[in-house]
Amino acid sequence: MRRSKTSLEELILQTERRLRAARLHYGHGTDNAHDEAAWLVLRALGLPFDADLKAEARHADRVERLIHRRIKERVPLAYLFGEAWLDGLAFHVDRRVIIPRSHIPFVLKKLPVAPRRILDLCTGSGCLAILAARAFPRARVDAADLSAPALAVARKNVSRHRLARRITLLKSDLFEALGGARYDLIVTNPPYVTTASMRKLPPEYRYEPGIALAGGRDGLELVSRIIEESPAHLDAGGLLVCEVGDGRKAVERAYPRAPFAWVLPEVFIYEPSRTRAASRRRPRRARGRAAGSPRAA
Ligand SMILES: C[S@@+](CC[C@H](N)C(=O)[O-])C[C@H]1O[C@@H](n2cnc3c(N)ncnc32)[C@H](O)[C@@H]1O
Repeated sequence: MRRSKTSLEELILQTERRLRAARLHYGHGTDNAHDEAAWLVLRALGLPFDADLKAEARHADRVERLIHRRIKERVPLAYLFGEAWLDGLAFHVDRRVIIPRSHIPFVLKKLPVAPRRILDLCTGSGCLAILAARAFPRARVDAADLSAPALAVARKNVSRHRLARRITLLKSDLFEALGGARYDLIVTNPPYVTTASMRKLPPEYRYEPGIALAGGRDGLELVSRIIEESPAHLDAGGLLVCEVGDGRKAVERAYPRAPFAWVLPEVFIYEPSRTRAASRRRPRRARGRAAGSPRAA
């Protein structure tokens, strides 16, 4: 008896059912089992995302090995394919960098200014530096990261998108290696996961570099340094666009009077030259004596 041919649509639905049954975590390029299945099937078969889904799924055996690794090993698809998409653009990714999923590209489209000097702090794969350079074709962009392996990936992406003349990659612990450089726009998606949340991350996140996620006890270890050091690196009218995930409450607790504009639940804009400086609430001192000072005999 001849077996009927399986269409792409059917193969995607079968894959979706298997992913759903495996109770995976989504959030590394898609946010649901159906989209993840479509991505898996189409890319495994070397097809574009707008392929005709009624067509026959040829070489369907190629899908099987990927489903196995996604379900059994919980490897994010982006690492299996060596490719991630952000704002319609493809980036090379591997385990040296976090998988791009920042909300900042959306904010770049709404900015009321066209910056000429941009810094992407904590650049990782270079995705935000590249999207910023494309959004502002007259701008020059510095892109800094502490991780040399991440910078190697960023270099690959900068060259893939033919932006080596406008993007400079720098190894730097935040602003440290930047000297007195000033910018009209700083974008940053720093590590901000709290120590408690790090312990509870779904298995998929364990494939990503810890240095890209861990933000210390309250998640603000790097965010605070960026808030406090950015005014010295911004020209008059310059903006800091900073992503903090679900850390908004922690930021508001640490900077109760800060003039931050929350343009998205995860992203705030800070304009130090037109607003008062943001200063962190210091821990209360014990009454009668300075905390940590020797007790009078
Ligand atoms: C959340 S990832 C963001 C990567 C990329 N911008 C994106 O949105 O996909 C944070 C990045 O910060 C880098 N990083 C961690 N600590 C740093 C530091 N002290 N100075 C500079 N970069 C740092 C990590 O290597 C990682 O690439």
